[in-house]
Amino acid sequence: MATLTWQGKQPFDERVLSSSTTHLHTLDTFLSQPAENIALATQSTTNDWHNRLILGNKSKVLPALLHEFVGAVNLIYIDPPFMTGRDFISGTQLAYSDKWKNNIDIYLQWLYETFLLLHLLLAEQGSFYVHLDWRTIHYAKIILDEIFGFSPNAEGAGYKSEIIWHYQTGGRSYKSFARKHDTLLLYTKSAQYCFHGERIGERRGSQKRNHMRKNVGNDGHITWTIRSSGRLYTYDENTIMTPADVWSDISHLHQKDPERNGYATQKPAALLERIILASSEERDLVLDCFCGSGVTPVVAEQLKRRWIACDQSHLAIQLTQKRLLEQQLHYPFLLQQIDPEHSTTT
Ligand SMILES: C[S@@+](CC[C@H](N)C(=O)[O-])C[C@H]1O[C@@H](n2cnc3c(N)ncnc32)[C@H](O)[C@@H]1O
Repeated sequence: MATLTWQGKQPFDERVLSSSTTHLHTLDTFLSQPAENIALATQSTTNDWHNRLILGNKSKVLPALLHEFVGAVNLIYIDPPFMTGRDFISGTQLAYSDKWKNNIDIYLQWLYETFLLLHLLLAEQGSFYVHLDWRTIHYAKIILDEIFGFSPNAEGAGYKSEIIWHYQTGGRSYKSFARKHDTLLLYTKSAQYCFHGERIGERRGSQKRNHMRKNVGNDGHITWTIRSSGRLYTYDENTIMTPADVWSDISHLHQKDPERNGYATQKPAALLERIILASSEERDLVLDCFCGSGVTPVVAEQLKRRWIACDQSHLAIQLTQKRLLEQQLHYPFLLQQIDPEHSTTT
């Protein structure tokens, strides 16, 4: 099978992980609203569960999480640095640096180690989304094929979808086509995984959108028909269409959008809502180790999922904490960081 190489490519040694003594230290506990908590708790074995908001570098936080959560995470969404070569500023503060000494080898090794650790944390029936853009998405796909496995028909473990998030914002380009999309890859750890297209698909409706023939019944009810390979297919106007892999209906957050909280690379809640609804159930565990402005834990909380969120930026963790405390909490959450006294991994 084809694999990607770069200077200094190294799989991490799992023995290093098992001997890792990195631990998480709890700084604070935030309580949930009692009535809701009881409602969720009585339905499951998760009644003493605490969500986790963790300040720290993923290289230390993910090994620390392995002690408790190996194979336990149902859904992972990550929106890592894209290797833009820039520093991202929020207000007057540095949110994070995305420079990598302009060295793709350093970036790819970092991404590879991230993917390897997240693959270990992912449940056997779990789903993994990575959100990148034109700069490195092609490398990410080959690396993920290596880690998750490759099946040519996309039916086994591995690749499931390439989602184009198409938006209207961003500059013009005079030397190439204007760049107006990010790419998200969906991989699964096995052939059995959670996917609910019906929760996020659009109603077929009465407007023509392809070559299907429109039929209007005596009562005004509409059906659509198409003949293919000698068979006639009929679809009711009320059926939900399978969601497509080009998403043009979710706009980037513009500068004055009320959802904006000042974090430079904040993604819209609608994007996460679609992913979480499609690929998880209530009470499932969702992980984002680059949570930035907190969009993943906030939406996971609203949709009654459990979550673990991490970021190395103080600003990101402050914003996420604030956003979480402004809404109803179904579970309590812990604010944690790496315990400097018990940390040996590099
Ligand atoms: C593209 S932003 C994520 C934005 C987020 N999805 C949102 O909607 O706000 C990438 C984030 O990764 C964080 N980050 C970069 N390197 C990291 C590392 N090694 N460990 C943990 N977080 C890191 C940055 O601080 C930044 O918040």
